[in-house]
Amino acid sequence: MAARPKLIAGNWKMHGSIGQNRDLLHAVVQGTTGLEADVAVCVPYPYLSQTQSLLQQTHVSWGAQNVSQHEKGAYTGEVSGSMLTDFGCRYAIVGHSERRALYGEDNYIVALKFKAAQTAGLIPILCVGETLDQREAAITERVVAEQLDAVIELAGIASLAKSVLAYEPVWAIGTGKTATPEQAQEVHAFVRNRIAGRDPGVASGLQILYGGSVKASNAAELFSMTDIDGGLIGGASLIADEFIKICLAGKN
Ligand code: 13P
Repeated sequence: MAARPKLIAGNWKMHGSIGQNRDLLHAVVQGTTGLEADVAVCVPYPYLSQTQSLLQQTHVSWGAQNVSQHEKGAYTGEVSGSMLTDFGCRYAIVGHSERRALYGEDNYIVALKFKAAQTAGLIPILCVGETLDQREAAITERVVAEQLDAVIELAGIASLAKSVLAYEPVWAIGTGKTATPEQAQEVHAFVRNRIAGRDPGVASGLQILYGGSVKASNAAELFSMTDIDGGLIGGASLIADEFIKICLAGKN
């Protein structure tokens, strides 16, 4: 079995303030020191500067929750990949289901963002996942395959070697309803096998995170599955104790 390091990444979504961030980041650094797993936080754009200054001498990485597909230009309100690397970002989440559902990002736009992030030197965290309707219609694999294939088509299979995937079933996000470890493992294995069909080396090295109501109480069980290499954590990443416990559950 390939030795893939675990990655636990917080996705703060639109939460935080300068005061809260300071306390949370200090606690996370303290609480995860010496841990073998990789730890990261994806924060709102305005807090990247603060995050950089608090985390730059630590083992915790940081990133953004979105990135423009454009390099620069007249795109009011957008933020480019090179702006994110200016603030020391390692990661940028692309294709989160909230961006797909609320901001009309389709598979092609997500693929463009994935490519733009990599071109700027960021590691994209590509989110895929089905809605409840799609799961009930038994088309989970088709939906996830289409989301993945759009990226492979545009950026090439080798590009996945410098990325992270996150399987986030939409019905499990912010609902308190977690996929069972077996349900998650099934989709993770499907994704890894699909990639292995094109490039076994890329597939075996790829970190595939699970996201959707991960908590301290269910993290260890999820992370023990063969193809689950950590988590993308929403609500629980805002509570220091909870997030630290999840990180500890990811120790290799
Ligand atoms: P929750 O952990 O709040 O369910 O959110 C998951 C998520 O969307 C992470 O990107």
